[in-house]
Amino acid sequence: MQISKAGEAVGAVVDDVDVTKLSDDQFAEIRAAFRDHGALFFRDQKLTPEAHIAFAQRWGPIDLNRFFKRREGYPEIAEVLKEADQQLNIGGGWHTDHSYDEAPAMGSILYALEIPPSGGDTLFAGMAAAYAALDDEMKARVENLQARHGNAHVFGEESEYRKAIGDRYTNADQAGQTAIHPVVLTHPESGVKGLYVNPGFTLEIVDMAPEESVALLRQLYEHIQQDRFHYRHKWSAGDLAMWDNRSTWHYALNDYQGHRRYLNRITIEGVALA
Ligand code: SIN
Repeated sequence: MQISKAGEAVGAVVDDVDVTKLSDDQFAEIRAAFRDHGALFFRDQKLTPEAHIAFAQRWGPIDLNRFFKRREGYPEIAEVLKEADQQLNIGGGWHTDHSYDEAPAMGSILYALEIPPSGGDTLFAGMAAAYAALDDEMKARVENLQARHGNAHVFGEESEYRKAIGDRYTNADQAGQTAIHPVVLTHPESGVKGLYVNPGFTLEIVDMAPEESVALLRQLYEHIQQDRFHYRHKWSAGDLAMWDNRSTWHYALNDYQGHRRYLNRITIEGVALA
């Protein structure tokens, strides 16, 4: 097994390994790489749904996403599917999964079953590197702030996006919860500081005038959206990617109209963030 950096700010590629046959030592090495790099990419995996679930369970209990359509017969697996005749995709903007939960899912494990002939890459951004690159003035400004996150605008009854995406999401009536988390998160495992706000689910900075909150979030997002913090994963069927939702953002590009793209995702339970 070999582990090498994927991007400067985020991600590592794990080669020469079958994730269904990991020894405890290999798994410990992979867990350390996940903590250090925020996202891991495994090529050429041959996973049944049962093997995908078994791999996920080595990381912790599975967090069942309430809004994604589940794979038939496998409630643990959320379908990330765009049919050839659909216009909108799932995850087609910068976000991190589940930040609207009190204890956001620790990580997501995505397995590629069908990939378009070109396009459909996923971008990842490293939040520790983005935080480290802030100037001292901005670091001091955001240090003790908190932000409110929510999901009604994405998964709720009134969401135009949910209506437009058709039957890919379920349980709109269960949307609406919000959660408050620090803007600068000390990662629960690595202890490294990173930014924890995202354009997908962060609603506002708590106790800040709305215009100021919008302006500050925009400034942070523009900073994080610099290429230097990103890694772009070009998928093949059989790829398995996993990312830490507390230290990364991701963005599924929607540039493959007329083609089907189908992946299976399992999310792993996380902890309340301090
Ligand atoms: C997601 O946002 O979880 C989906 C990512 C992808 O389809 O590449």
